[in-house]
Amino acid sequence: MKPEQEYAEKHPLSAALYERALRVFPSGVTHDARFLRPFPIYVSRSRGAKKWDVDGREYIDYWMGHGALILGHNHPDVVEALHRQIDRGAHYGACHELEVEWGERIVNLVPSAERVRFTASGTEATLMAVRLARACTGKKKIVRFEGHYHGWHDALSIGIFPPFNIPDSSGTLESFLSSTVVLPSDDLQPLEDLLERDSDVACVILEPSGGFSGAYPLTGEELRAVREMTEKRGVLLIFDEVITGFRFSPGGAQALYGIKPDLSCFAKILAGGLPGGAVAGKRDIMRYLEFREDAEWNRKKKILHPGTFNANPISAASGVATLSIISRGEVTTRANQCAQKIRDILNRVIDSHGISWCAHGEHSVVHLLMNHSCTRRETCDRRLCRYDYRKIYQKDPMLLSSFRIAMLNQGVDSIGDHWWISWLHSEDIAEKTGHAFNESIGMLKQALPDRFPRP
Ligand SMILES: Cc1ncc(COP(=O)(O)O)c(C=O)c1O
Repeated sequence: MKPEQEYAEKHPLSAALYERALRVFPSGVTHDARFLRPFPIYVSRSRGAKKWDVDGREYIDYWMGHGALILGHNHPDVVEALHRQIDRGAHYGACHELEVEWGERIVNLVPSAERVRFTASGTEATLMAVRLARACTGKKKIVRFEGHYHGWHDALSIGIFPPFNIPDSSGTLESFLSSTVVLPSDDLQPLEDLLERDSDVACVILEPSGGFSGAYPLTGEELRAVREMTEKRGVLLIFDEVITGFRFSPGGAQALYGIKPDLSCFAKILAGGLPGGAVAGKRDIMRYLEFREDAEWNRKKKILHPGTFNANPISAASGVATLSIISRGEVTTRANQCAQKIRDILNRVIDSHGISWCAHGEHSVVHLLMNHSCTRRETCDRRLCRYDYRKIYQKDPMLLSSFRIAMLNQGVDSIGDHWWISWLHSEDIAEKTGHAFNESIGMLKQALPDRFPRP
């Protein structure tokens, strides 16, 4: 039986909900990544590293709130904080104590954070960081790297997907895109050359993990080189730590590598599974958010910053509880260990099937390459996998979709090619995942034999 057929039989209530959803939402979904043929699962509850759908089926969860839930679902301290806050009020339309504590925790954890402003999402955080960079330097251009993701606002909606020189979305304005320079991710010379010849660069923004949460990794040395190049020329460096923040270390990638960016963007883990983002950075840059006794400054120099849900009390309660646990350090270590175990198990299964896939990555994200013709298979430690990143995007949508479906049939939910690991993805869960992975590959080899050429 094809994976899709088995899936349809196992998920009648999800299929019925999708029928309803199709009458409300374009393609029936509320986030592009949740689109799945023939239909997605509808989840009704979650706990720890697992979730359950409306058909009563259990899943090991590798979405983990799109990377927000390094503590797993429903950590008791976070749940208690949320209950406490919801009884006191969801939105005061006023300043409140928890936002101060939330901000203090960021300043205490993140080396370059002297001042903080909250936003409602990671997209809003990168939008604000770029505006701050332009306001502060008086320069126009933003430099970004191919394949790095920074949310979906216009200024950064080019360079995410190949071909990297056209907008990633229709509906964006050419005028925005002309001031965004997209550079290759595997060579820093073009950056050096650009900074040398162009004096109109306000900032360089990057994912310190490397593109797409580290699918194509950057090393500490490369990050240090970018820091030096930018510092030398008064160009601001923005670390988009939406993924790496509070994950690569309690103080993010910057604490791990000992590099101080000028501005940093946070979201996801920051708010422990609730909506929330933040920009943090040097005081003399963040002062462009300040009010002054100077009408001219307030009207012409200050950055506009409204936002109904900035630092809302529920997100703040969740964020404070989450960062408090993360600050003890154990979460990072355990999540990294769980991820390494999962990578090892997946690679064992891959090798046993003799297929050209690879599970790689560092820290608590697992990246899965499908049909990856690696010439260093025997010697590679499958951590810093340096392959041609342009190939990540030559994905086989049919294979990826069937893989997701096959894994769902086996009780594992993942985005497909990158998996978020929490500190609760224990040995037992890793073993069960390995079993599901083995069964799924076996089934896919039968259903799609042409997708598994002999290596
Ligand atoms: C590195 C990075 N930056 C920014 C964003 C955008 O964050 P949000 O989805 O909260 O807008 C994401 C989202 O996945 C991300 O991975």
